[in-house]
Amino acid sequence: MEKLFLTGGARLEGTVVSSGSKNSTLAVMAGAILAEGETILRNVPAIGDVQTMMDMLRALGVKCEATSPGVVHIDATEIEATEAPYELVKRMRASFCVLGPVLARKGYARVAMPGGCDIGARPIEFHVRGVQALGAYVNMEHGFVEAECSGLKGGEVYLNFPSAGATQHVMTTACLAEGTTVIHNAAMEPEIVELAAMLTKMGACIEGAGTTTVRVHGVKHLHGTDFNLVSDRMEAGTFAVAAAITQGDVRIENIRPDHVEPFVLKLREIGAVVDVDDHTMRVRSNARPVATDIMTMPHPGFPTDLQQLFAALLSVADGSSVVVENVYERRFKYVNELVRMGAEIKQDGRTAMIGGVPKLTGAQVTASDLRGGAALICAALCAEGETEISGLEHIERGYENITDKLKSLGAEMYALGEDRERENICV
Ligand code: EPU
Repeated sequence: MEKLFLTGGARLEGTVVSSGSKNSTLAVMAGAILAEGETILRNVPAIGDVQTMMDMLRALGVKCEATSPGVVHIDATEIEATEAPYELVKRMRASFCVLGPVLARKGYARVAMPGGCDIGARPIEFHVRGVQALGAYVNMEHGFVEAECSGLKGGEVYLNFPSAGATQHVMTTACLAEGTTVIHNAAMEPEIVELAAMLTKMGACIEGAGTTTVRVHGVKHLHGTDFNLVSDRMEAGTFAVAAAITQGDVRIENIRPDHVEPFVLKLREIGAVVDVDDHTMRVRSNARPVATDIMTMPHPGFPTDLQQLFAALLSVADGSSVVVENVYERRFKYVNELVRMGAEIKQDGRTAMIGGVPKLTGAQVTASDLRGGAALICAALCAEGETEISGLEHIERGYENITDKLKSLGAEMYALGEDRERENICV
């Protein structure tokens, strides 16, 4: 897709099935490198970031193949290369997390530094200190992190901030270290619990995943496994916002109730009626959102990945709201685009002050990151007239079939392809 055209005003109604979790998939794909054998992953979402991770595994000489929709086979019996190239790491930061698993298997790994991105600096020092604590010698020059060891040894790792990526990376790397590794101030995101579940199925010994202290007792070998990915809580949150912003009635199937809890409570505060059972959440609304304040926090706080989406929702709320972003220093690039659509938002550092307006109006806007792009889609769904969204490559990184799913709920939208012909017109 090159551009997306949305005509706002349709009330979204119906049922949508949540896809597999992007962030869980990326973490377990890196984890599969540890196995001397074949790992089969199921419920893998067809998104750009998964494609990038597949390219990364192949660049390392690991066999990686999508055999049918949602099913990916990874066979890391042989790891032919130990270098992760810049072209792939710069495309997706999560690919940096192959460093530890390759080091654990081969005693050497050289991975390009990911650099900053559109939502903040996103440094890697926690990851580097983590592998150093396991006994690796690390050298950083020419834009690469080079790590070497003659056998990893368990160690104590304290994270200055509960980083999801660093917790996953150190936990994975420690599985093949001799002795016990303790990660203090670990992140508690559901994706860490899922990764631990897969590594345990592969033969690892992990305690405390999902708490602030994770203990990994190293084993000599891990074997392949068959693992089903959990659903994507951020995609569920995106459809929940789409339902609330259009004053619609949407059932989202295949969710995990404990994973959606942090934003369900906020949705209710904003005036939506939300029913959650074992596998489904239903979001209904028939009025303008009620203004509220949001502060993003590591899990189980309000997730930063839904900050932009809820800001779009609050931009049409009755009253003024304050949104504080505590995880990333500049996850507000979408603000100027929402302002082009008539939103009244003032941003100062990590804070956005939103004066709710009765309506947004369609405009030409550009997505500059994944969740900011999804926020623009939600804003466009309720805006008066047509919105033209560019920068779709960001959205395609993380959402499987988002246009088809929204159209199935009644959204009026079409995509303009490379050939500049109108495709899939839907009313
Ligand atoms: N941080 C450091 N040093 C480090 C690592 C992290 O200072 O060495 C800081 C970061 O700069 C950031 C904070 O710690 O300010 C949290 O970053 P974290 O490491 O937790 O983020 P991540 O692991 O790189 C994952 C998700 C993000 C999600 C965050 C927070 C993946 C592939 N990405 O990133 O997802 O926002 O956790 O929950 O799992 C998204 O899906 O749109 C997305 C950006």
